[in-house]
Amino acid sequence: MKFFVDTADIDAIRELNDLGLIDGVTTNPSLIMKSGRNIKEVTKEICDMVDGPVSAETVALDAEGMIAEGLELKKIADNIAIKVPLTLDGLKACKHLTGEGHMVNVTLCFSANQALLAAKAGATFISPFIGRLDDQNLDGMELIQDIRTIYDNYGFETQILAASIRSANHMKDAALIGADVATAPPAVIKSMASHVLTDKGLEGFLKDWEKTGQKIL
Ligand code: E4P
Repeated sequence: MKFFVDTADIDAIRELNDLGLIDGVTTNPSLIMKSGRNIKEVTKEICDMVDGPVSAETVALDAEGMIAEGLELKKIADNIAIKVPLTLDGLKACKHLTGEGHMVNVTLCFSANQALLAAKAGATFISPFIGRLDDQNLDGMELIQDIRTIYDNYGFETQILAASIRSANHMKDAALIGADVATAPPAVIKSMASHVLTDKGLEGFLKDWEKTGQKIL
């Protein structure tokens, strides 16, 4: 499973990128707002740092507007994935942009039928939002499973990008189901490394090592 980091915070992206843990980045208008940066400037910095796809989201509501904005965002760097919403206009824009060879991430997906349409429109990525479904007492992970089954039934090549991930358990469950990619906030990705028994075990080993009086270097 590929890991994308869901943020426009340059320092957080650099930290994870330096650890070699991320394969791409996703942003959205809320994350750009949170960064306090200009969308083109911050996206360019991210694209220069990270080798994989960097999703930058359009804000127009009509297909023509999305296509125009998408092509403008695409000028930032070759690794831009144009993000469009899962509406009929978004699907039209997706079909057009992927037809021209651009990567497209269809976002705000909340149902298997929406994901099926995105695959028909040739989306590179489909982004089902797990956490926001869970917030409504629905089952976000069940959606990932349904999309996996449907895409495998027909050999659709659209990659399932599990989004709106809120916990390390979400990462594990998405991986077990076979999501192609998961995008998560930096803190969630880092929390995957934590285990209380790792901390306890390390403490014990270091105490015993000190008693030996030895040094490795
Ligand atoms: C995905 O591309 C979105 O940016 C993101 O995962 C949304 O997550 P949220 O529901 O935590 O805002």
